Formats: sequence, C-alpha cells, structure tokens
Amino acid sequence: MGLLLVENITHSYNPSHLFFKNKQSAAVLSDITLSIEEGQCLGLLGTSGAGKSTLGKVILGLEKPQKGQVIFQGIDLYDADKSTRRSIRRDLQVVFQDCYSSVNPRMNAEQIIGEPLQNYETLSLKEHYRTIGELLETVGLKADDRHKYPHQFSGGQLQRINIARAIALKPKLIVLDEAVSSLDMVNQTKILCLLNELKSSFGLSYLFITHDIKAAYSVSDTLAVMEKGEVAVLCEDKSQFFQLEHPSVRKMVESVLSEHPRYRSIPK
Ligand SMILES: Nc1ncnc2c1ncn2[C@@H]1O[C@H](COP(=O)(O)OP(=O)(O)O)[C@@H](O)[C@H]1O
Ligand SMILES: [Mg+2]
Repeated sequence: MGLLLVENITHSYNPSHLFFKNKQSAAVLSDITLSIEEGQCLGLLGTSGAGKSTLGKVILGLEKPQKGQVIFQGIDLYDADKSTRRSIRRDLQVVFQDCYSSVNPRMNAEQIIGEPLQNYETLSLKEHYRTIGELLETVGLKADDRHKYPHQFSGGQLQRINIARAIALKPKLIVLDEAVSSLDMVNQTKILCLLNELKSSFGLSYLFITHDIKAAYSVSDTLAVMEKGEVAVLCEDKSQFFQLEHPSVRKMVESVLSEHPRYRSIPK
C-alpha cells in the first residue's frame, strides 16, 4: 500500500466577494488521484496557477478539500481525530520556496531547528544540543552555525536550515513546494544533491512541486503534470517521460534548451 494516496480530490476556493455570490466558483482541483510509495519522490510539474500548491496544502492538511480523500499511512487525514492528526503532522513536513519568510527572523538557527523538537520530543538539554548540531551537519552546515540568525545566512544556507527543520522529527514525507526555485543554479544543484542524499539515507519520500522539469527530473522517481487543476500526465517511470507525446510534455521538452546551441530547438 502506498504511503500517500490522494483520491478524487476536488476543491475550489470560495470567493466571499459579493460579485461572485451567486456564481459557482471554478474548481482549482478537479478529481485528482495520485499516490506516493515509501522512499519515492513524485515530481509534480505544471505552469503557474495549475493548482500545484493548492494540492500541496490539501495533502498537508491545511486546506480541506470539498471532495475526495487524503490517505496517509492508511489513515484518512480529514477524518482523523485531533491526536491522530497531530501524529500525522509529525510525519508530514514541508519546505516552501521563500526561505526567508519561512523562518522567524528573530530566531537563531538553533531555535528554528529546535522548534519541532520542542513541540514533539522530550529531549534533555544535552540531547537537544547534540541533535541540533547533528542536523546542521547533516544538511552541510557547521554545528557552530546554531548561533546565527536568518540574515547571516545566504539563501542556499537558509534553505538548508529549513530542510534541517523539516527532517528534525524524521518524517516520512516532505512536501517541497518550489523549494529550490528561488536559488541560483549552483545552489539549486547543491540542494538537489542534498535532497537525493537525504532521501536515500533516511528512506524519505517527497512530493516535489516545481515548474522546472530539470529539477524535477533530478530528484523524482515518478512525474505528474498538472494543468488547470487536473492531472494531465502521470508517468510512473521518469525515464519514459521525454518520450511521451502529450502536448504539455512536448512543450516542456522544447523549453529545455540543449547544452550545445547547434542542437537547440527554440519553442515557437
Ligand atoms: N488562498 C486562495 N484563495 C483564492 N484563490 C486561490 C488561493 N490560493 C490559490 N488560489 C488560486 O488557485 C489557483 C491555483 O493556485 P496554486 O495552487 O497556487 O497554483 P500553482 O501552485 O500551480 O501556481 C490560482 O488560480 C490561484 O489564483
Ligand atoms: Mg505554487
């Protein structure tokens, strides 16, 4: 059985504006069915506005869908009682695109990474200190970086702090919503390598939300493309993705320029 099953999710935001009062709001998600196996990464692609982040929020338990179910480790997320939801939240973490707004600027790295530990664990001071040092080193920073504040880190380093916080409780699934999109190419590559390492050493699963096929391809096992709130393409084996004839796949392939100018086909 899959770690995460998303079944027939349909959702729309309810406009409160008077103008829309009598109108049926358009569905942002229509009948979405997806699954993620343990230790696997599903790359969720799509252009801006396709509904990727909304689906991410539905999976995280932040946006109750109008129809459908989110089954995490066999439990219906929106049907679970409070304490079950709390324990699900521990196994289900998130990293967002904007590393600076994801953290409290008044907290240092130790406080940021330590927050989930304090909420869920009862570690001694010594254990807490040691765990944070280990987490910082796991994400490629120094244990001494614990005293630094967000403004003292680069974007790439701060995203590592966000990743350290996300893995602090050894979750099963991390939703990465455009988590590398605001980084420069060098840092993107480094963070993607880190995500691949963490995935194999901790058996993590990811929902990797992005508009960038290159980034998705490098971490994902399976790929899906969303269009206007629907899953337009689902490719269980990423090595088959570039052969698919679906127009949205062809558009994506054409938008990735070949390394050598001679082989570039510029999309019309
Ligand atoms: N909180 C919200 N309230 C109302 N509409 C929203 C909200 N969040 C997103 N939307 C709308 O839902 C659609 C899908 O948005 P989103 O899920 O953010 O797409 P993506 O992440 O693929 O860019 C867009 O039309 C967007 O304007
Ligand atoms: Mg988004």
